[in-house]
Amino acid sequence: MKSNQKVKVAVLVSGGGTNLQALIDAVRSGSIKHAQLSLVISNNPEAYAITRAENADIPVAIVSGKEYPTQEAFEARLHTILAAYDIELIVLAGFMKILSQNFTARYPKRILNVHPSLIPSFCGKGFYGLKVHEAALAYGVKVTGATVHFVNEIPDGGEIILQKSVCVKKDESAESLQQRVMRQAEWIILPRAVELVSKEILSERKENGKQ
Ligand code: GAR
Repeated sequence: MKSNQKVKVAVLVSGGGTNLQALIDAVRSGSIKHAQLSLVISNNPEAYAITRAENADIPVAIVSGKEYPTQEAFEARLHTILAAYDIELIVLAGFMKILSQNFTARYPKRILNVHPSLIPSFCGKGFYGLKVHEAALAYGVKVTGATVHFVNEIPDGGEIILQKSVCVKKDESAESLQQRVMRQAEWIILPRAVELVSKEILSERKENGKQ
């Protein structure tokens, strides 16, 4: 498939970037066929995800909250960069900054997020990273997992695309649960969802005669 027939994806990151790596690997192995990773944006200049992107020859932009202290300025910069790269699909992969309604409304069904629980459990404001797994363990759930969903104005409230469950082991730490949820759920469903949505975008484009 020619690269101009693929959906241009930007991946937004803040940290280690293992989900970004899962996307890079899925493109390499051919399980993502209908999307190309055209850009990585990090709000954290120290994120290891940046190295992963560079190793995969993906252009990187750093938009730090320090340089763009207001939400408006931060998001205006994001819009400019996304437009410069003709981005059609935005993937939040461990992106630890909430985007405003002004931002999300401009990309209806064009922003995906991976969240490390089975939404609607342990999600919304304040639930991110390790905190999600700590909350799941504190509650005593026996099954948790991950969710990929569209992003709208409600934090973790957009339409669910894919979910995968993971059993909680006895006496497990939040760290080990986080690792297993990533390995057994996030790294599997995020690439699948990107492929699924990209295919849909391309078929919509075809129907609209914009090939
Ligand atoms: C992942 O577990 C992701 O689901 C979570 O942060 C981690 C990032 O890891 N995201 C959230 O909690 C968002 N609410 P990564 O940088 O290695 O992909």
